[in-house]
Amino acid sequence: MLQNKKNKKELMRKIKDEVVALKKSPLYKFRIENKNLPVIGQGNHDAEIMFIGEAPGKNEAQTGFPFCGASGKILDELLAYIGMNREKVYITNIVKDRPPLNRDPSPEEIEIYGPFLDRQIEIIQPKVIVGLGRYSMEYVMRKFGLESKLGTISKLHGQVFDTTLPYGKVKIIPLYHPAVAVYNSHTKDILKKDFEILKKV
Ligand code: URA
Repeated sequence: MLQNKKNKKELMRKIKDEVVALKKSPLYKFRIENKNLPVIGQGNHDAEIMFIGEAPGKNEAQTGFPFCGASGKILDELLAYIGMNREKVYITNIVKDRPPLNRDPSPEEIEIYGPFLDRQIEIIQPKVIVGLGRYSMEYVMRKFGLESKLGTISKLHGQVFDTTLPYGKVKIIPLYHPAVAVYNSHTKDILKKDFEILKKV
C-alpha cells in the first residue's frame, strides 16, 4: 500500500503508543522503575535506507532516540563518510526498550518487539535494510527468507543479499555493530569499507 506522509506519521505514532503500554514485555518494569523511555526510531519516514540496531542503551533510554551514545557517534561519522545524515535515513532497533545492564536482547524480547519492527519496515518501505550486528542480521535474514545464507557476522558483513517484500525488491546488508568500533580502529576501517559498498548500492 502506498502511504502518504501523514498516514505514515500516524502509523508510527500508533506503534509508539502500543510500545509505551507494552506491560507484557519483560523490560516494561525496568523502564518504569528507571524513568526510561522506549526508543521507537528516528529519521525520514520515506527513507531508502533503514538501519536496524539491537536495543537502546542508557543514553538512548534517557533521551528516547536511537544511537545517541558512543556507538551513535561512530554511526554519524560513517553516515557523514558517505555523504548521508540522520535526516536522510531511518534508524531503529529490534528491541524498543533498554535491557538491564545493556545486556544482549533475549529471544523472548526479540519475539515481543519484532512485530513492531516489521510494521516499521512496512511503513517506511526501505529499498535497503542494514542490520547492525549479529542480532539484527539474524532477525532480518530469517524474516525475509535468507535463513539458508546465514553465517557469522565476520563472514557476512558487507555482503549484499537480494530479497523481495510485498512492496518491492529490497537489499539486505549486514554490518558490524558500530559499538564494536568504539575501541577498535580495525573494525572501524572495516565498517568504513562496508559503508562504501552501501554507498554504491
Ligand atoms: N546500540 C544499539 O543497538 N542501539 C542503540 O540505539 C544504541 C546502541
